[in-house]
Amino acid sequence: MSLPADQTVLDPEADVEFTPEQHDIWKILYARQAPQVEKFACREYLEGSGNLGLPADHIPSVQWLNERMTPRTGWRTLRTRVRYSDAVQWYNHFAAREFLITDYVRSRDELDFTPEPDMFHDVFGHLPYFTLPRYAQIQEMFAPAFLRATTDEQRENIKRLAWFSTEFGLIRQDGELKVFGTGLISSKGEMEHVIAGNTPLLPFKAATIIGFEKAIWSYNDQLFVFDSLGSLKAELASYFDTF
Ligand SMILES: [Fe+2]
Repeated sequence: MSLPADQTVLDPEADVEFTPEQHDIWKILYARQAPQVEKFACREYLEGSGNLGLPADHIPSVQWLNERMTPRTGWRTLRTRVRYSDAVQWYNHFAAREFLITDYVRSRDELDFTPEPDMFHDVFGHLPYFTLPRYAQIQEMFAPAFLRATTDEQRENIKRLAWFSTEFGLIRQDGELKVFGTGLISSKGEMEHVIAGNTPLLPFKAATIIGFEKAIWSYNDQLFVFDSLGSLKAELASYFDTF
């Protein structure tokens, strides 16, 4: 399966100009989340965050991001004007090691939670991880599975597994529950909700997860925990290898 060139993606040389208000919202979100991730994020996120070194006071450009990401893992980011990319297009970009980021920035009254993934989620949540080869390997499992899936059910299940791992997964490290998923990393509200023990947790088993619906408009009412990147990979493979 392949698509013609994606017209919604901007040339990195012609990146979006964000407004002073948008840079300000980034600054507020960054100042709120930086101490949270120090306490609650897994060690992979913190290592990636150290590699990327995001600016605290302004939204970085696509070129700036790629100069720091691509030499480490081969992944690059591209700006899209589409808020929710279609899954086929999304995974076609994944297959080329391209991670799409939006130009949408949440508003001041959505600082704690935004149902639509915004630029802060995409950049602050996801991109630090793309400086780590051992994390990139996990992301690189999804596109081949999605592109060879033959049924809608398989494609839905792949999206569920992505949702409950890279977006909202938790990991146990040194006996402590840590946040792995980028949807939690970028949401002060849901991160605190989960860490405080308000969300039921189950072991990350692909066979269990494919039966769960994703919660897009609210906090998740069920999340899943793995013990290592290796065990996450093994669980993903246990489903992806069935077709
Ligand atoms: Fe995301």
